[in-house]
This record gives sequence, C-alpha cells and structure tokens, in this order.
Amino acid sequence: MKVAVFSTKSYDKEYLDKANENGKHELVYFESSLKPKTARLAENYDAVCVFVNDSITKEVIEQLSLLKIKAIVLRCAGFNNVDIESACNNNIKVLRVPAYSPNAVAEHAVALILTLNRKTHKAYNRVREGNFSIERLTGFELSGKTAGVIGTGKIGTVFASIMKGFGCNVIAFDAFQNKTLIDAGITYLPLEEVIKTADIISLHCPLTPETNHLINKNTLSLMKMGAMLINTSRGKLIDTDAAIESLKEGRLGYLGIDVYEQEEKLFFKDLSEIVILDDKISRLMTFPNVLVTAHQAYFTDNALSQIAQTTIQNLTDLENNSINSQNQVCINVIKQ
Ligand code: NAI
Repeated sequence: MKVAVFSTKSYDKEYLDKANENGKHELVYFESSLKPKTARLAENYDAVCVFVNDSITKEVIEQLSLLKIKAIVLRCAGFNNVDIESACNNNIKVLRVPAYSPNAVAEHAVALILTLNRKTHKAYNRVREGNFSIERLTGFELSGKTAGVIGTGKIGTVFASIMKGFGCNVIAFDAFQNKTLIDAGITYLPLEEVIKTADIISLHCPLTPETNHLINKNTLSLMKMGAMLINTSRGKLIDTDAAIESLKEGRLGYLGIDVYEQEEKLFFKDLSEIVILDDKISRLMTFPNVLVTAHQAYFTDNALSQIAQTTIQNLTDLENNSINSQNQVCINVIKQ
C-alpha cells in the first residue's frame, strides 16, 4: 500500500521502517499534521497514517474521499480526533492500535504521582545547583492513601494493581467492573463517591461526549482538600479553567498531566525560542504543585515497537481484505 504518514517524528520513521520489513508498504513521511490545509498531500496514496493530534474532521474526510483514500490508520488507541461517522459515510475505513503496552501509560501516571508527592523534580534542580538543603521538600507516603481510578480498562487495571502494590486502598469507577480487580481487593463505587473519597484520582477513561470535562467546577468542589489529580488520558477530560481556580483555592493540591485541552498547538513541538501564546498552560506551569509532560506516557521502546508492528499489520490486512475487527473503529463501537 502507498501510505502518507502524517505528523512524523524521527522515532516514528525509525520504528515504522523497522516494522515494514522488506519495504512491503510504500511509506512516505510528512512532518506536517493532517488538517484541511494539508489533506491535499494525500493525493495518489491509498491510505493516511495519523497520530493523536491530527485533526480528521468532516472537512478533511470529504477531501480524503475525493482523493480516493481507502483508510485512515491511527498510530494510537484513542480515536476522538476522527469524525468516525463521516469516515463511515464516505466509505473510509478507520483502523487503530487498540492495545500497546498499557504498562507504559500506567507507569507514567505513577511517575507523575511519585514526582509530585516526593518533589524529586525540585530536588534534581536544587542538587545540580549545589543546593543540598531539603527544606520544603517534605513529601507524603502512598501507603495507606486512597487512590481512585476512573476507567478500569487496560491501562486503569495496570495502574490499580501498581497502586495496590504501594499499599494504597484502591477504589474505582467504571460502568464495567473488572472481576480480577475486585478479587484483588479493589472496590467499585459510584463516580461521586470515588471523587469525594480519593486522595489521588487518576483518569483512565476515553474522551467521549459523556466524559468531556468530567473534571469540572462541580466535581473539583467535591474533592478532598489537597487531593492529587492525574490525567494521562485525554486533555479535554479536565476543564482547565476550573482546575486553575481549584489550584488557587488549594482544594486541588497537586495536578499531574500528560495531556492538555489545547495540546495540538503545543505538544510534540520545540517552542523553546517562541513566545507561548497559550495563557492557560503558562499559568499552569507557574504552580509549584503542577507537573506537565507533553504526551509521553506511551513513549517507551516496547510501546513504539508494538504500535509500529500493529500499524504495518493493519495496512497488510487492509491490502488482503482481512481486517482484524478489534482494530477497526466503526459507528457501533462509538455508540456502545
Ligand atoms: P480501554 O478501552 O481499555 O479502557 C477504557 C475504560 O474506560 C473502559 O473500561 C471503559 O468502560 C471506561 N469508561 C468509558 N467511559 C467511562 C466513564 N464515563 N467513566 C468511567 N469509565 C469509563 O482503554 P485504555 O487502553 O485503558 O486507554 C484509556 C485511555 O488512555 C485512552 O482512551 C486514551 O485516551 C488514553 N491513552 C493515553 C496515552 C498517553 O500516551 N497519554 C496512550 C494511550 C492511551
């Protein structure tokens, strides 16, 4: 298949080329993201390959349809950035990588927690400047704390098990209860109870119309004073303005995010020499109790290999007309 690969970074090319043994598929790499202005680049290709911040709107899909693109192949699990209904209406298949090392994301969520609770990011900077004082680096222990997991799918399940290992009391909310977690001593509670009770809340549900701004002024007001909130799922799960207000009040005691509402304009880019115009992220970065990473939770050698292998397999399956139904996103999936 001839594939236009959008939003390419050096590591995408490295891992995709390695997985694309003997040059089976013709992969052409574009640094640009896929958006209305760049969709024309896909002319004369069979498929486009995209990532989390490519914006595959109805307008883009209609352009892809005119270019006779057969498939949109995602190098990620989440598909909230694709207008699935339009893709189906235009007979364009959408494939994704439903599972790739859930440990990568779960462990990153834990890394955010351990950095925030033990202030290792501050200690690192202090020691490098010859400041060996430990004043104001007092942390808190995870053992005995209550960790609340929202969404106990593949990643949430690994996260819950790790937190259990730290000696936390783990509570969870999900419409589908995982028996293995219940057997391991994890208690499912209604969403409001989890939010009210947890010392640490970690979001592991997808972004859907229902979960958009799941964490908002109202839910933030229910949290324990000084609670920690971790988001490695999708930025729009949190209303950033409400989180900033809650941080100012001191109710939100710590915020660790790997995803951000307006990340498309920032993440995966080196903006170190540019004035950042996004005042919300700039404000967030002024708080001493906020830690931001730029969508790197998935970014491990294991995960990159798995993503590349499944992506190449998806292309081969498309070519052979033998699509793995678990990798295909269709209307009935999103209406579940
Ligand atoms: P999954 O599909 O295995 O699990 C999602 C779980 O969320 C399911 O159990 C589902 O029932 C539950 N859920 C759906 N709506 C919910 C709601 N309203 N409240 C509570 N739970 C709800 O997905 P997986 O693989 O665990 O991934 C979770 C999310 O992590 C993805 O949707 C994606 O947004 C994010 N992600 C982030 C990455 C990163 O690098 N930061 C990388 C990979 C995924």
